[in-house]
Formats: sequence, C-alpha cells, structure tokens
Amino acid sequence: MVQLTLPKNSKITKGKSWPKPEGAKKTREFRVYRWNPDDGQNPRIDTFEVDVEDCGPMVLDALLWIKNTVDPTLTLRRSCREGVCGSCAMNIDGMNTLACTKGMDEIEGPVKVYPLPHMAVVKDLVPDLTMFYAQQAFIEPWLQTKTPEPEREWRQSHEDREKLDGLYECILCACCSTACPSYWWNSERYLGPAALLQARRWLVDSRDEATDERLDKLEDPFRLYRCHTIMNCAQTCPKGLNPAKAIAEIKEMMVARRT
Ligand code: SF4
Ligand code: SF4
Ligand code: FES
Repeated sequence: MVQLTLPKNSKITKGKSWPKPEGAKKTREFRVYRWNPDDGQNPRIDTFEVDVEDCGPMVLDALLWIKNTVDPTLTLRRSCREGVCGSCAMNIDGMNTLACTKGMDEIEGPVKVYPLPHMAVVKDLVPDLTMFYAQQAFIEPWLQTKTPEPEREWRQSHEDREKLDGLYECILCACCSTACPSYWWNSERYLGPAALLQARRWLVDSRDEATDERLDKLEDPFRLYRCHTIMNCAQTCPKGLNPAKAIAEIKEMMVARRT
C-alpha cells in the first residue's frame, strides 16, 4: 500500500549527483526533492545537469527532460503545460508556482524544486491534495437556485458578470493554501485561501440563491476566521488573484447580515 505521509523524524539527505550529459554545451543545475514511499529511505535531494539546448525554457520542460532522458522514476503532475490545469504546482526557488509558466531564466543559480510545502507527499514532487479537494467540495462550488429553472438559461447582466472577475480565474493549483501559515497550522479546520476564494466566487454570483446557507456554513471560528491577513496567498498566486481580499469581503458580508 502506498504510504501517504513522510516517515517520522525523517530528514532530507544528500542524494545522487547525476553526471553531465555527454556533449552538452550549456547546462543548468537542478536540485530536486525525491522521496519514494516504497524504499524505506529518507527524502533526498538529487542533482541533475540539464542540457538547456535540448529542452524548452520552462522549469517543467527541464523536469520532463530529466524524466525522459536521465531518470524515468522522477514523479510529478502536469497536464496542460500552459498555466490552465493547475496540476504542476510546486515550490521552485522558494516560491509556490506553476512549473510550466516559470522560466528557468527567471532563476539565478541552481534551480531548487520541492513539492508544495506542508503537505504529505505521495512521491517526489506529488503532494497529497485529498483534504484540499475535500475543502473545495465543502463550499459546494456550483450554482444553487430555488426559483424554477428558466426555459433557456440563467441570465446575468454584464455588470454582475464583472463581479466574478478576479475570482473565476482560479485554477485550484493550491499554491496559495500551501503558502498560508494559518493553513499550515490548522489545515483540518481552516478552509484556506483557495476554498474561501471559491466561496466568495459563489457568494457574489447574482444567479446563486443560496447566499445565506453558504454564509451559515462559513460562520465558524476556524473555517473563515483563521485568516490573519498575512498576504502570502496573494503574493504567490500564479494567476495574480487575491484570496486575502476575497476573504475580507466574506467577513464584510458576515458583518452586514448581522446589522
Ligand atoms: S491572507 Fe489569510 S489566507 Fe492569505 S496567506 Fe494570509 S492568513 Fe492565509
Ligand atoms: S487562488 Fe491562485 S494560488 Fe490559489 S488555488 Fe487559485 S489559482 Fe492557485
Ligand atoms: S501543466 Fe497545467 S498548469 Fe502547469
């Protein structure tokens, strides 16, 4: 059975240094976190020399080059390779971001690649997002209505549609939640910036008719109120969104309905 958490007291050890590819004229050093739940070993950092003239310019290109030409066991998630699916989120050069939109030339020195922080690791660069997705499901991110369904469609004015800007673009990459100190320490009870940004997206949707029920679910000392406006979430979001602002706006909605 696959173990989903790191072994207790594990520490990161120096891993294997792979040789420079033969004939490569221009290489870039990559230091990549590795952990295999099946070998009983501690996590380690492997060093690779990537032939940058033989791969694309993004960090994801280099990781796939490593996987395809050096070590096929390197494990990572990716799908769209254009910043749309959110699956290649990882910690690169100390920041949570998308490997497919992060250019190698934006980074000085060795490129350090880790999984998203403070999450259990499934293998190498793959974090366990089970709870993250459960939190998304908890806020019920779909249109909820009570009035009879219109014959053709639920209509929305241009002005009301614009209220979703800055919210609907979220790709659920988890960069923000895994950068949030409040989420690190209370991830089982605090919903975190990604889920709360989604909650705000449905709270402001003029077509949705479950606003009170949605706010009732968030009225809890932990689910919403653990945000302390530290702003890591807004700094790290690769789509330029501002979950902290969305959370503050939910808090304002809470106050408004009490008065
Ligand atoms: S502003 Fe709130 S949600 Fe964002 S990182 Fe800080 S505590 Fe977390
Ligand atoms: S708000 Fe930004 S960082 Fe957070 S999950 Fe959505 S796209 Fe990713
Ligand atoms: S591969 Fe889809 S966002 Fe990077």
